[in-house]
Amino acid sequence: MNPQASVPNPGSAPRYARITGTGSHLPPRRLSNADMVGLLAERGLETSDEWIVERTGIRARHFAADGVHASDLALHAARAALEAAGRSAADVDLIIVATSTPDMVFPSTACILQNKLGANGCAAFDLQAVCSGFVYALAVADAMIRAGGARCALVVGAEVFSRILDFNDRTTCVLFGDGAGAVVLEASDEPGILATDLHADGKHVGILCVPGHVAGGQVLGDPLLKMDGPAVFKLAVGVLDSAARAVLAKAGLTEADVDWLIPHQANIRIMQGTAKKLKLSLDKVIVTVDEHGNTSAASVPLALDAAVRSGRVQRGQTLLLEGVGGGFTWGAVLLRY
Ligand code: UT7
Repeated sequence: MNPQASVPNPGSAPRYARITGTGSHLPPRRLSNADMVGLLAERGLETSDEWIVERTGIRARHFAADGVHASDLALHAARAALEAAGRSAADVDLIIVATSTPDMVFPSTACILQNKLGANGCAAFDLQAVCSGFVYALAVADAMIRAGGARCALVVGAEVFSRILDFNDRTTCVLFGDGAGAVVLEASDEPGILATDLHADGKHVGILCVPGHVAGGQVLGDPLLKMDGPAVFKLAVGVLDSAARAVLAKAGLTEADVDWLIPHQANIRIMQGTAKKLKLSLDKVIVTVDEHGNTSAASVPLALDAAVRSGRVQRGQTLLLEGVGGGFTWGAVLLRY
């Protein structure tokens, strides 16, 4: 039992859902930009450390070994989050895994993770909102807990994007990496998640997608990631600003109340642009894109866990989490940690 959590009486509707533990995991194989330069050179493509750092802020990314799936990365992150929360798998009554790189077409990676954890019997499902996936999953778990449908949720973002990268496309393959992050979210009378705001606009499906699908025993269409980077970039800064303002307004707070901005880690320039619009100093922005690359749904919980474990994020602080990505999807979660 986590001594910090104030759990309401069974039967009473909790006022809040609160993060009681965080965890994350990166696969051990780390590729620097110099490694990517070598990998692309083998294919006759040119890139450079300077280009990647200047345009994105990325210096390294991690790739999972062959045979290691999203559920394997998720398992490490989930165990770490449970330990931090002082919980065991038996306490978990809801598992949501945000992923766009599931182990199988079905069943869900959440069911596979549940079995690996030994949390069998609880509700478990995947949530697909690409790079906004974790923010979406946190909002869904918050709503389920406050509606009385769960009391102790494991919310995970886990990705093996290396499996869907086109290593003949230098405009995308240098950007992404693999990893997983997790939180334990529990019913509580103490704040908690303060406000959430989710959006999607399906007219932008084509600017960031993996267009292939499985049919008749074959993969039809291209099963590798396609992105119109500049189009995504332009949309991202605007929608992240509006989602941030929406959660602040819903909670009756202002930018000045935010202790830490933890945005989706895709590009340092998008994060700088978002912070600037919110008039937040850059030292209030958690940045892990340099070492992780873009890990899609795993990026926000990876950054959150890094910030918690380094001691930057402290109990009682106000955190603004933001996601943006394929769909087009975007959203924000404002919370008291
Ligand atoms: O996770 C979901 C959200 N995703 C994102 O937020 C990604 C958003 N987009 C971005 O981060 C940026 O648009 C990129 C990093 C993808 C690209 O940066 P950019 O400043 O928009 O560059 P660009 O696409 O306009 O390309 C500029 C130049 C081009 O050459 P020319 O046409 O100007 O001669 C590209 O061919 O950079 C070239 N280029 C590269 N050069 C070296 C593209 N990729 C590379 C590369 N190495 N890897």
